[in-house]
Amino acid sequence: MFRDLREFLEELERNGQLRHVNEELSPELEIPEAIRQVAYRKGPALLFERVKGHEGWRIAANLFGTMERIRLALGTRRLEDLGERLTGLITSPLPTSLMDRLRALGEAIGLGKYMPRKVGRAPVKEVVEEPDLTALPAFKSWPKDAGRYITYGLLITRTSQGIYNIGVYRVQVVGSKEAIVHAQIHKRAAELFNSSRGCTDAAIAIGGDPALMLSGMMPTPYPLDEYLFAGIVRGEGVEVVEGESVDLLVPANAEIVIEGCVDTSDLRKEGPFGDHYGVYDPGGLYPTFKAKASLRRKDPIYYGTVVGRPPLEDAYMGKAVERIFLPLIRMLVPEIVDLELPEYGLYQGVAIASIRKRYPGHAKKVMMSLWGLGHMMSLTKVLIIVDEDVNVHDINEVIYAVAQRVDPQRDVVVIQGAHVDVLDTGSPVPGYGSKLGIDATRKLPEEYGGRQWPEEVRPDEEVSKRVLEALRRAGIVQP
Ligand SMILES: Cc1cc2nc3c(=O)[nH]c(=O)nc-3n(C[C@H](O)[C@H](O)[C@H](O)COP(=O)(O)O)c2cc1C
Repeated sequence: MFRDLREFLEELERNGQLRHVNEELSPELEIPEAIRQVAYRKGPALLFERVKGHEGWRIAANLFGTMERIRLALGTRRLEDLGERLTGLITSPLPTSLMDRLRALGEAIGLGKYMPRKVGRAPVKEVVEEPDLTALPAFKSWPKDAGRYITYGLLITRTSQGIYNIGVYRVQVVGSKEAIVHAQIHKRAAELFNSSRGCTDAAIAIGGDPALMLSGMMPTPYPLDEYLFAGIVRGEGVEVVEGESVDLLVPANAEIVIEGCVDTSDLRKEGPFGDHYGVYDPGGLYPTFKAKASLRRKDPIYYGTVVGRPPLEDAYMGKAVERIFLPLIRMLVPEIVDLELPEYGLYQGVAIASIRKRYPGHAKKVMMSLWGLGHMMSLTKVLIIVDEDVNVHDINEVIYAVAQRVDPQRDVVVIQGAHVDVLDTGSPVPGYGSKLGIDATRKLPEEYGGRQWPEEVRPDEEVSKRVLEALRRAGIVQP
């Protein structure tokens, strides 16, 4: 497990997956464009050594621009293992014998290793100073963006019950001590802001161990504490330290932490911002972050991402969510076999699920379940359900199932008046629109006018084998 961003960068360097950019470039338009040029080519992670207007700062980018680097960051070849680590903690069989009880006790004690660990001395406190958000090399990503944005800060807050939220929200810098936080209404942080009075303590952490960084954008179900969740994902508790000016624990190994509070009585116009739909989101009214203190390393490495037409870094983050959350989704909707959130489907906008179908109307039951779960309720606009023998990761198999098995009148569901992604370009009103479900499963007699689904054609196995051998001998088909 990597302790911080630097250890991860060293590992990327060892693997030949990191390139240094020595030419001086600006975080306004130039570095974002360089990141896009490399990311669209599925290129390496980048370390910008000279940042125009920000002497002493470096910028890391495109760290998570391939699934291979995400797996490296999370220390696993199989991302589902991380989700299974979480479901394993919930679904252990009831301990009935003495041996089982002892084992369950051991597992409960084992949970402790995922808890955040408080440390006294923290690299992020090497420099503690008056905050100046304009000193950060935050990006202006697109020419018509409203200004500079912290595009990958972990916003850390805590509920009155002591539960930590960590979320990645774009943050528009509007002054040395002020910024606007774009937390959408259904997000944990927004829920907290809406239920609190005054200015809620908050901290924005930039850079840190890569598993914590990735946990920030994951849809951690409430009330699971997000430091604990990050510990489960990284296999070891996150090191945290007391804040300097806020009553919050902040990541000890981050590169930068800006402490302050979020004032919901001070709503400001945020945006426009070129977002992951590939258009300028006009933005809206969002609460103001008011900075109180700045913590950073002596030689800080800023990390920023850019969004735009897919597939950029966030497309692979969306795929990581798909794999890590599949075991949890299966626990809640056990008939689900596999799930695909296509790279070009805007993070989680399009989802394809295969199911073990047992009864008429089953696909629609699964649609309703998925649209009721976590962020799929807003982000997932189009949902296609197929049978378990369809490989959801092969779009042509899915199109074949849609073409062969769908009767639009019977199998297409449109849910009107649904909550949708506020960024959705297609919806009539921001945050309020409709959903499309397609049941592309084979139909049971009850769904098919009492008829049996026709038998699918298959060649005679023995003939097929013999003919294939003949074609190979003739050199027409490769062996
Ligand atoms: C690059 C990137 C940018 C994001 N920007 C925003 C944003 O501006 N607003 C928002 O509500 N969610 C944004 N998200 C999604 C949230 O990070 C994600 O839904 C997270 O789970 C929210 O945290 P929560 O668990 O506190 O609800 C972004 C995700 C990524 C990967």
